[in-house]
Amino acid sequence: MTRKLLIALPKGRLLDKSIDLMGKAGITVAPGDGSRLLFIEDQERLFRFVMLKPVDIPVYVESGVIDAGICGSDILRELESDVNEPLDLQIGRCALVVAGPAEKEISYRRNIHVATKYPRTAARFFKGKNAHVHIVKLEGSVEIAPLLGLADVIVDLVETGRTLKENGMKVLEEISPVSAKLIVNRTAMKIKAKQVNNLISQFDRVVYANP
Ligand code: PRP
Repeated sequence: MTRKLLIALPKGRLLDKSIDLMGKAGITVAPGDGSRLLFIEDQERLFRFVMLKPVDIPVYVESGVIDAGICGSDILRELESDVNEPLDLQIGRCALVVAGPAEKEISYRRNIHVATKYPRTAARFFKGKNAHVHIVKLEGSVEIAPLLGLADVIVDLVETGRTLKENGMKVLEEISPVSAKLIVNRTAMKIKAKQVNNLISQFDRVVYANP
């Protein structure tokens, strides 16, 4: 018998939305309160789940030690992950943008400093505009960098726009829309085709259900 599919769920802001979507798809997962268990199962015991930091999910899925996962397109583009993306789950919708201080005019012509958690995506974007920039890689709270003078602009996610607004910043340009994707290891897609296709159909029915 084929081993149960092992699926990675993203810790953090996508976790509740992912569990909610799975519930609607008939996959009930209840991560125990404060539990330190690394692996959990759904109620029907058809799948095994592991909760990981979002940025690690494509690494595990590409390697094949985890069959599938839920991951934001921001991370997939940044890591240039070689995985199958059979379905846009339409959750975690936001945008990757260039933002800067609301009161300042920023010209890409001078060698501006760009603070971001997405150095490769930012470098690609500014290269496409023939703009020479210095990328400053940060791990979080990126909005503070222009306020403290570490950078001129940021490349970061905007969901409600509240963080930018409350810190006197504005969107200068949108780089791309972002949403969560179902990702599947390329080999698992073939050798576990039946299980993977069932999983895709379960999600598909919910994501593209008519209201
Ligand atoms: C993300 C993002 C922005 C914020 C945008 O940060 O990096 O800081 O959310 O959301 P908003 O437009 O709704 O205000 P996150 O909370 O994931 O934490 P981080 O800054 O530590 O990465």
